[in-house]
Amino acid sequence: MGPPGAGKGTQAQRISEAYQLMHISTGDLLRGTIKDNSELGRKARVYMERGELVPDELVTALVRERLRAARRHRGFILDGYPRNQAQALALDEILAEEEIPLDLVVHFETPVEVVRDRLMGRRVCSSCGTNFHLKALPPSPNGRCSRCGGELMIRPDDQDQTVEQRIRVYEDFARPLVKFYRKKDLLHKVSGAQTAGDQYAELKRLFERKAK
Ligand code: AP5
Repeated sequence: MGPPGAGKGTQAQRISEAYQLMHISTGDLLRGTIKDNSELGRKARVYMERGELVPDELVTALVRERLRAARRHRGFILDGYPRNQAQALALDEILAEEEIPLDLVVHFETPVEVVRDRLMGRRVCSSCGTNFHLKALPPSPNGRCSRCGGELMIRPDDQDQTVEQRIRVYEDFARPLVKFYRKKDLLHKVSGAQTAGDQYAELKRLFERKAK
């Protein structure tokens, strides 16, 4: 968990590749439903364009389906879910049903000015979905994705007003969620303001310790 731009997606992608874990990003799943122009996508788009949370039952249904498939994997990383206490309770229920343990909750604490800078400079590959940042994690010098050569785009919800609304929504829901996982003794804080390389190194150390 962490505010928009904290680096959740960047690190979830790196860690899931390093440990062969299933990466379940609710933002990516929802953007996929919009791309497919499904009924769910048409509903989700309205909320996402406003920077608000998509209704819990729609997002939880997507997560439930993915977590069923996760049983066949070594493990999973949930990125962007749960975002409120209702989702956290729903997640507990799904994990109990599927008999999957939850080992760790990582909280990326990130100052708001860092968040704004990250989202302003973000470019996303329209083909493979890799995230870049114009200054901190630049794409190829030819302005294309350095992974697959795809065209880069600005995420529609990275516009100024939508960013401010996403930050507000995060702040409204974060505190109870932190409390919820602190009580369960699962929460680990990581600074979202450090470089992506330092974040990755810290997360790897954390994962190695957990795996022992
Ligand atoms: P989602 O796609 O999850 O967006 P978000 O939570 O706002 O997070 P971001 O993807 O913006 O940031 P991130 O922390 O992943 O950072 P990233 O690694 O990309 O959700 C979008 C929308 O979907 C929501 O607003 C909501 O409407 C809906 N939704 C999703 N989940 C939902 C749920 N559970 N319930 C209800 N609705 C839901 O990095 C950002 C930028 O910074 C990139 O440019 C990257 O290259 C760069 N960067 C990353 N790390 C660093 C670093 N350490 N130093 C410098 N630059 C960095």
